[in-house]
Order: sequence, then C-alpha cells, then structure tokens
Amino acid sequence: MSRFVVNGGKKLFGEVEVQGAKNSALPILSATVLTRGENILFNCPSLTDVDACMRILRYLGCEAKKQGSAVLVKCDGLRESEIPDSLMREMRSSIVFLGAILARTGYAKLSFPGGCELGPRPIDLHLKALRKMGADICERHGVLECKAENGLKGAKIDLSFPSVGATENIILAAVLAEGTTTIINAAREPEICDLCDFLNEAGAKIYGSGEGVIVIDGVEELFAVSHNIIPDRIVAATLMSSAAVTKGEITLRGVIQSHLSSVIPVFEETGCKVKVKDGDLTVTAPDRLRAMPLIRTMPYPGFPTDAQAPLMAVASLCRGTSVFVENIFENRFKHAGELMRLGADINVQGKVAVVNGVKTLYGASVEAQDLRGAASLITAALAAEGKTEIGGIGYLERGYDSFEITLSSLGADVRKV
Ligand code: EPZ
Repeated sequence: MSRFVVNGGKKLFGEVEVQGAKNSALPILSATVLTRGENILFNCPSLTDVDACMRILRYLGCEAKKQGSAVLVKCDGLRESEIPDSLMREMRSSIVFLGAILARTGYAKLSFPGGCELGPRPIDLHLKALRKMGADICERHGVLECKAENGLKGAKIDLSFPSVGATENIILAAVLAEGTTTIINAAREPEICDLCDFLNEAGAKIYGSGEGVIVIDGVEELFAVSHNIIPDRIVAATLMSSAAVTKGEITLRGVIQSHLSSVIPVFEETGCKVKVKDGDLTVTAPDRLRAMPLIRTMPYPGFPTDAQAPLMAVASLCRGTSVFVENIFENRFKHAGELMRLGADINVQGKVAVVNGVKTLYGASVEAQDLRGAASLITAALAAEGKTEIGGIGYLERGYDSFEITLSSLGADVRKV
C-alpha cells in the first residue's frame, strides 16, 4: 500500500472545492440498476470505492464509465444477479446492491459482507426488512441467496436503529415494489436525501426523506437521469480539521452548511472562526485551540461518527481535556494508538476516549488501519514537528479524492511514495 510523507508545521491557506460525497455516490450507483437509459452522475468523486462499485455494475452487465468528474451508467443490459465474493470483499457497502438487484430481477446472490476495520458489520436489519417485503432469503456458508419470484410487496418497516445502509436497501427494494412501504425510524443522513432525490428524478414516489418516517409508493419503472452528487460533509470536516491544527485559514467551496450543523459549533468551541457565505465556508484557526465540548457520535443530525477520527487529531492539540464517546461503531478508536506515537495523550476505555491536549506533536512513522483513521493521522502529521510517514494510504483513497494534491494546494508539504 502507498505511503504519505508529511513535513509538518506549515500553516494551510487557500481555497479548495469539496469533492462529491462518497456515501451518496455509492448508493446512487446501486440505484442506477433500477433505471432504463443512461444516467449521468456529476460531481462523482474519483475513489477506489467508486471504482469497486463500477466494477460490480460492469460484472452485472451494465455499462459504467468515467467522463471527467462525471460517471455514466446504463443498466439496460443487466443480465446477472450474482455478485462474486471477490467483488463483495472489495467493499463492504456492496450490500446496498442487494435491494436494487432483487427489485430489478427478483433474485440476488451475494456473499455476506465481511466484517471491516470498524468491527462486525451485521445486516440483520436489512434482511428482516426485505423478508417483510416478501423476499425469501437463505443464508448459507457465508452466501446470501435472495428470491422474490412474485416481486416485492410494500410493507411497514420499523427500524430498531436508524441504520443508513438498511434504510437505503429498503428504499431501493421499495421503489418498484407493489404497494406502499413505510419506514419508521429511518436514517436521516443527507446522503439518504440525495439518494431519494435521484430516485424521484427518475420517476419514483418517495416522501419524507430526511425525516424519521419515509413513505415509498411503488411505481412501474424508473428512467435514467442526470444528477449532481452532494458535497462530502466528512471531507469538509476533515479539511476544517487541517486548518485548525495548522493555525491556518482555508475556504471550502461548495459546502452545504446545514450538513455540518453538528460539526461547526465544535470548531467554534475550540476558538476557530467559521464564516459561511453562498456555499463557501471559511475557517480561521486561533493560535492555540481550546478543548472541545463532549463529543458523542450519533445518527444524523447528531455528531457524525465519520468525523470522530479527524476531530480527535484536533483535540490532541487543544489546551485542556476533550472527551469522545463513540456510540455507532464498536471498534473505531484504532487511530488513538497511532496518534499517541506522534505524542498525543489519549486514554481509551471502551467507547470513551479521553484526550489531554498537548502543545506539540512530533513526527513519527505511523500506520492507518481504516479510512477515517488515515484522515486523522494525516491531520495530526500536518501539525507535527518534523517528518511523519503514514502507511496504509490505500484506506484513505477509498474516501478521499487526490487528498495529497488538495492539501499541497493549501501549502502542506505532503507527498505520496
Ligand atoms: C454508513 O455505513 C456509512 N457508509 C458509514 O461511513 C457511516 O459511518 C455509517 O453509515 C453511519 O453514518 C456508507 O454509507 C457506505 P449503519 P452503514 O447501517 O450503512 C449497526 C465511512 O467512513 N447495524 O448506519 O454500515 C452497525 O453495526 C463509512 O465513510 C446493525 O446492527 O452504517 C453499526 O454499529 C464508515 N444491523 C450501526 O448500526 C444492521 O442491519 C450503524 O450502521 C445494520 C447496522
């Protein structure tokens, strides 16, 4: 896997465009399976997870190609309903193809998505909902075989947890189902709204996205559309973190302020100034950061679990003690140990991490172990004195498009080796 070499201590200044949202692009790419004609997805980020999704689409018999920052997908030629283990293992969130393939062909066979760096990733909520919509699902030897020979039927689904992936799978299964599906306690993430906007533009009838109850009236068929993918709020939070730790000032172009409503106040608490004007967000860091308020990760609109790791790098340099509670995933503090190799003072107890801020971090050799952990280590390295080598950059490239180029354009001394 490639590595980053960072010489820290450079203040970041300048303006960057925020990339399209990975967690919006992935479910929308799955949703193209349900449409007839050629979809054009603008502002689609160039990521290894997006590449993996396109490989799956091609395997299924669809056409999927890049044209600049757009991705073109045509699924008229879909002839396959199985995703091989090799492709499933490349990306855990491939499970979101299940609902779409089942809805389009009445059959789907894919391997159980393995656990990932964040811990076991159960899909019980996905399967319970699809069974309630009439799918016959057999789980054997790590393979899921799903049938809906008489098509899927609308149903009332109560989610015990507002799972993002389960909400997406239910929506994808429901848009062509017979009758109405109601999702109670649906996930409210902006990426769910973007998926529903894409599907409604294609002719679906989805109401209430972004609220806790989503109603979907099944329709006969969906037609390809051109769609702009929303900006990535987690990449925005990561770039804000890089300004905060380097005492810099950066402007992010094309952010949606409401998507950062639980993140902006945290930066302001540390003493950063945050100004938003016409879709541009400028963050100006103070000379010394103050400790953060208690950070508890929650489903949207609460504080996003994906921003926990980058913000922990910021907390490492705040004056005072910051506390993080990770409520969403059970193993999402692996970056803490690596941050400590840079001189951070962090004490992890179960789902709580206590960070005692230090004045200076020092360059070292560290290893990323998951996507947002990689972002955390790069953020800390930008501030650390001296040289930091970061391994495991392949994780970063799953979710950050040309990140070393973006950071270099802001004045960082970072190169990929
Ligand atoms: C999506 O994952 C995102 N991934 C994650 O982003 C994000 O962290 C997560 O939502 C929460 O916001 C994509 O959108 C591709 P969940 P997902 O289902 O759908 C448990 C990143 O860094 N659960 O809301 O897997 C589950 O174990 C990635 O970009 C069940 O128990 O999230 C987890 O603890 C990481 N049973 C919690 O719910 C289920 O059937 C949240 O999972 C499903 C989930």
